[in-house]
Amino acid sequence: MSCCGHGHAGHDHAGAAPADPALAGLAIRPDRLLDRLEQLAAIGRTDEGACCRLALTDEDRAGRDLVVSWMRELGLEVRVDRIGNIFGVRRGSEDLAPVMSGSHIDTVRTGGRFDGNLGVLGALEVVETLNDAGARTRRPLVVAVFTNEEGARFAPDMLGSLAYVGGLPLQQALDTVGIDGKRLGDELERIGYAGDAGLGLYRPHAFVELHIEQGPVLDLEGVRIGAVESLQGISWQEVSITGQSNHAGTTPMRLRHDAGYCAAAIGTKLREIARELGGDQVCTMGMVKLHPNLINVIAARATVTVDIRNTDEARLQEAERRFADFLEALARAEGVKIETRRLARFEPVRFDDGIAHVVERHAAALGLSCRRMTSGAGHDAQMLARICPTAMIFVPSIGGISHNPAEDTRPEDLAAGADVLLRTLVELAS
Ligand code: HGY
Ligand code: MN
Ligand code: MN
Repeated sequence: MSCCGHGHAGHDHAGAAPADPALAGLAIRPDRLLDRLEQLAAIGRTDEGACCRLALTDEDRAGRDLVVSWMRELGLEVRVDRIGNIFGVRRGSEDLAPVMSGSHIDTVRTGGRFDGNLGVLGALEVVETLNDAGARTRRPLVVAVFTNEEGARFAPDMLGSLAYVGGLPLQQALDTVGIDGKRLGDELERIGYAGDAGLGLYRPHAFVELHIEQGPVLDLEGVRIGAVESLQGISWQEVSITGQSNHAGTTPMRLRHDAGYCAAAIGTKLREIARELGGDQVCTMGMVKLHPNLINVIAARATVTVDIRNTDEARLQEAERRFADFLEALARAEGVKIETRRLARFEPVRFDDGIAHVVERHAAALGLSCRRMTSGAGHDAQMLARICPTAMIFVPSIGGISHNPAEDTRPEDLAAGADVLLRTLVELAS
């Protein structure tokens, strides 16, 4: 049963029942979803209870192996492409463009249990629910696990989905060098996920990603579901400062070329730019490395990372301009050399309004409060939006905490998100 033949994925058919009566009243199994989430979270668990599966590490491989084993258990055909993206395909009754859903399972070093994992395991739970019901959607369903979404080891973030949609040439992606000096392509080979499928294997009819909000909005407002209609712009750069090491005791302040001071000044300036621009502007200096990093030596070199984001492209450019002007003035004033290297730059993205409507409608049908919202975090969905109608479903993050072992979402919200995903995918695939 097509949606409406207008070539839309998510046209709004107010109150449309699920495509096929056999699918009506279907519900995911919360226990199964929660159990898989716990099993996956246990892989790469650190002493402080964080989930540490940096992209293409042994922990990432173990997580990938576990998810692939579940895909096979559920009867999905598993394909891996040349940047290591994994796809589990569930045939439809007709051989049409598939509906795709998924996310990532790589984490930051201090990751939580749900960032990315919920999107992959929620989609797997949808598959198992349909298997249990002996139901067949018209379109195939594809569960996707994208490589290196976090970008914490290899920049940019969303690298696997960016390459998938043709935004980054494969060779350039494979030649990316990580913060530990390792080459991405070598690591992919090492963990056995350098697949043979070409990039862009499927051109989806639609893409929907379930994800925790990672911010405070839904939790503060007591809203259960976020129908995500947009995602903010992201600007990442690495700033290298070369000064002159010298004796901390004998060197008069006026003769210093202190890379350590410059790093601190950059952190302060970023906070100032965010405050001056106000609104959605956020600026973060997440990494600082000094050399030689010793108490009685004026730092010769410093390397810092800069993460600047805004929902509005013009204001994001303004923030970048102010920061660039500041670096020039700092280099002159301190007699240091400052070089910048672009690590990521993605403009703000608007998702498909029709699919956001479908999400809202199914949330309402399930009696779940729901609101439109933007995403502060980057997601693979922002890349899939370049090739097909795409939207996201958010569930609340308690206290808005994420990229932190304390990341948490109530079990009933995890299940609610997966139920909205089930109904949304079934409607789009029928
Ligand atoms: O950086 C981000 O927003 C995402 O977590 N990769
Ligand atoms: Mn994520
Ligand atoms: Mn993340």
